[in-house]
Amino acid sequence: MSSLLVDNIGELVTNGVGEGPLGIRRRAAVLIEAGRMAWVGPAAYAPAADRRIDAGGAAVLPGFVDSHAHLVFAGDRAAEFAARMAGERYTGGGIRTTVGATRAASDDDLRATVRRLRGEALRQGTTTMEIKSGYGLTVADEARSLRIAAETSTETTFLGAHVVPAEYADRPDDYVGLVCGPMLAAAAPHAKWIDVFCERGAFDVDHARAILACGQAAGLGVRVHANQLGPGPGVQLGVELGAASVDHCTHLSDDDVAALAGTASDDGPGTRTVATLLPGAEFSTRSPYPDARRLLDAGVTVALATDCNPGTSYTSSMPFCVALAVREMGMTPAEAVWAATAGGARALRRDDVGVLTAGARADLVVLDAPSYLHLAYRPGVPLIRQVLLNGVPQ
Ligand code: NIG
Ligand code: FE
Repeated sequence: MSSLLVDNIGELVTNGVGEGPLGIRRRAAVLIEAGRMAWVGPAAYAPAADRRIDAGGAAVLPGFVDSHAHLVFAGDRAAEFAARMAGERYTGGGIRTTVGATRAASDDDLRATVRRLRGEALRQGTTTMEIKSGYGLTVADEARSLRIAAETSTETTFLGAHVVPAEYADRPDDYVGLVCGPMLAAAAPHAKWIDVFCERGAFDVDHARAILACGQAAGLGVRVHANQLGPGPGVQLGVELGAASVDHCTHLSDDDVAALAGTASDDGPGTRTVATLLPGAEFSTRSPYPDARRLLDAGVTVALATDCNPGTSYTSSMPFCVALAVREMGMTPAEAVWAATAGGARALRRDDVGVLTAGARADLVVLDAPSYLHLAYRPGVPLIRQVLLNGVPQ
């Protein structure tokens, strides 16, 4: 079995045992065998290996875990973005524009977009990326969206309940029946998760509950787009259903925060339901950012993700989200880096990624910087020198 040593690491973020909340180890080395972390320790005691990468004193982190992205779509909405920057408000109405373009696209066009964005993210250090459907909204288009997503990720999410498509506008009950019936049946073989956009103008709490419960009965895990555009029932619905994550969390009441805090787990710190914050969406809709500090102070586990989509957040960059979270959302650099790695893993209920401890997947990034701090300190700078996916240099 061939082994690979990453040596001469100035600052290793393990998210395990070590200094501070990031489990930092200095002057470290890691040994990789069969795509896994086989050994982590001081560089001075590094074992022999078949191959060696010299990190040159730089920082090494777990690859980013982007737990929320909408990559299967066609077209872009640059004009809608420009209109917002000129003062227009985001309402979610543009989703239907992308639905039209997506339905008209060929499989190969959709596949090319997914691969392009996944490649873009990888070059920025993302080693695990969730991918949602949600721009097809017919049985065939949702099924093919997930089939294509599953070619690129095991973390696939059925979002047939993104909005009610135009042809069902005056009979939303019928659309919910379609989502829970034939659409779910066609989507479930390619999906691990189910998600609903629970928001005024999308799905109300009764429809959202019905759809998520059907998905759960079909064996899918629950996640919710909740409390993005205004206060609402989404977060508490997610908690009620044992969601792995409630995403956006921009407008929270004290009861919402308490409900999340109430999911504190017995098997370690943090909460069973993660609050996933998506600052790219607030950036691109020029909206107030969610209050990460309030969630963290209440003991809620927080993740950061890109929400990469053509409407509200056309970025695939986790370093950009880390920088926004630090500057705009009250997070320390350490909290933001944890949320973008271990937090994302928790939001996907994964314990093999987001950490660099013995036994974990060897998904890691070597920075062009001496410390993780530089991700927020040097915003917009391409600091990802090298990415290893499953132990393989990319
Ligand atoms: O997460 N909020 C709903 N869905 C996306 C936006 C989709 C769009 O505008 O195309 C989001 O922000
Ligand atoms: Fe989203």
